[in-house]
Amino acid sequence: MTIETNIVHPDTTIRALMATIEAAPVKLCVLVDDTGRLLRTVVDGDIRRALLAGASLESPASTLPAQDTVYRPADTPRPDLIAALIENPSISAIVLVDADHRPTGLIARNKALSGILLSPPHLGQSESAYVRKAFDDNWIAPAGPNLNAFEVALRGASGRAHTLAVSSGTAALHLALRVLGVGAGDPVYVSDLTFAATVQPVLYQNARPVLIDSEPKSWNMSPAALERRLEKDAAAGCLPKALIVVHLYGQSADMGAILALSERYGVPVIEDAAESLGASYGNRPSGAHGLLSAYSFNGNKIITTSGGGALVSDRGDLIERARMLSTQGRDPAEHYQHSHVAYNYRMSNVLAGIGLGQLELLADRVARRREIFETYKAGLGDIPGLSFQDEPGGSQGNRWLSVISLDPDQIARHPYQLLRELRHEGIESRPAWKPMHMQPICAGCVFEPHSATEVVSSRLFLQSLCLPSGTTLSDDQQQRIIACVRNFTKG
Ligand SMILES: Cc1ncc(COP(=O)(O)O)c(C=O)c1O
Repeated sequence: MTIETNIVHPDTTIRALMATIEAAPVKLCVLVDDTGRLLRTVVDGDIRRALLAGASLESPASTLPAQDTVYRPADTPRPDLIAALIENPSISAIVLVDADHRPTGLIARNKALSGILLSPPHLGQSESAYVRKAFDDNWIAPAGPNLNAFEVALRGASGRAHTLAVSSGTAALHLALRVLGVGAGDPVYVSDLTFAATVQPVLYQNARPVLIDSEPKSWNMSPAALERRLEKDAAAGCLPKALIVVHLYGQSADMGAILALSERYGVPVIEDAAESLGASYGNRPSGAHGLLSAYSFNGNKIITTSGGGALVSDRGDLIERARMLSTQGRDPAEHYQHSHVAYNYRMSNVLAGIGLGQLELLADRVARRREIFETYKAGLGDIPGLSFQDEPGGSQGNRWLSVISLDPDQIARHPYQLLRELRHEGIESRPAWKPMHMQPICAGCVFEPHSATEVVSSRLFLQSLCLPSGTTLSDDQQQRIIACVRNFTKG
């Protein structure tokens, strides 16, 4: 940061110091002697103490009591400066000095440590009004007008006739399995490369995940692996009770091929569209293709209710059954009677208010995430060995996360080294999901690879890194990230 606006001299009055602090972007004065050498810094607290000790507004800066100033040579590596700020919370800024001890720049705590998060929530103008309304109407419950309106609005976003808002995407997936009657020992096919939440509900039901590898372009369920597995299981007479296909990082799987196979073998498809709200496949929204689909409104998703999810379908009977199971499975009777083991999975009316405001912004959020992806592609796409998740023709991803993949034959350093370098710069990145066939919770599960010679999911896991993709990311911040990645790949 430039320092000119912060520089003052010993004869500057306390009144003028206060005006300088008020006007400067970094709230301190840097006091220098007649030759321009650093003497000390002055912050609000120094002035307060001087006034309490009897100084007046017209007293010169030279009367301020002595104080330690934190400075470093201007060529100190930036990670070391950031580390110094992290380690000592009382330092508000570090002054950089040249060999003659003249100030050349400032590292301000609030600027340097304003970290860049992977995918933080991004609220708009109207969420708080909907939440306020829930308070005003005293609908602080898992029922009420916001919840009803949110479910109606979700019909538009999902392209589905029936919607049920619940407490999480995981709960939505669990309800999908329950309404399809998945129980102990039933095989359920699941995309291998995903977050654990896709497979957990299968395990809640004591069912048996069968893990299907990715294909290399969209990184989603490989139709080739799916077909091979279905052929084998049909021959053995153990076809799955359901198939959960994930739309990874907001990019739809090849639903044409997957639905054709599911129809051929009579297997119902559940879409795990937790990450893909606002994306499309063919002319329909992602999540409008299988029998049932689940969305997530977790805080890191493209829109959020802080925590929440939804189950959607064109089959009203399935959604009504899920609604019953999401509210403790009460029978239609005046008294409290329960014939089903069920759950407390409904979304709160308060949180649905956040969702209503967020849904109004969905198209903008998708457009911005796609723009962020394109900027990464423009800034990094020429690096040999660096590639991105494809967007096959006929689909449009929401680019929830922009993910890069580094080919070890061309880039010697591992993505986790990049993760650490970015972390040092206050930039959050994350590894790609670790495939389910490599997870302890899926030990012993059948895994069907993309081909006899290629496992795609574990390669993507080992080579890929998710970059900050949130819609609050500024252009400057993104350029900083691009510079870090370019620098890393040169190393
Ligand atoms: C692919 C996938 N499935 C399911 C979930 C579960 O959603 P939730 O966190 O709302 O339970 C998530 C996100 O967290 C996800 O990324």
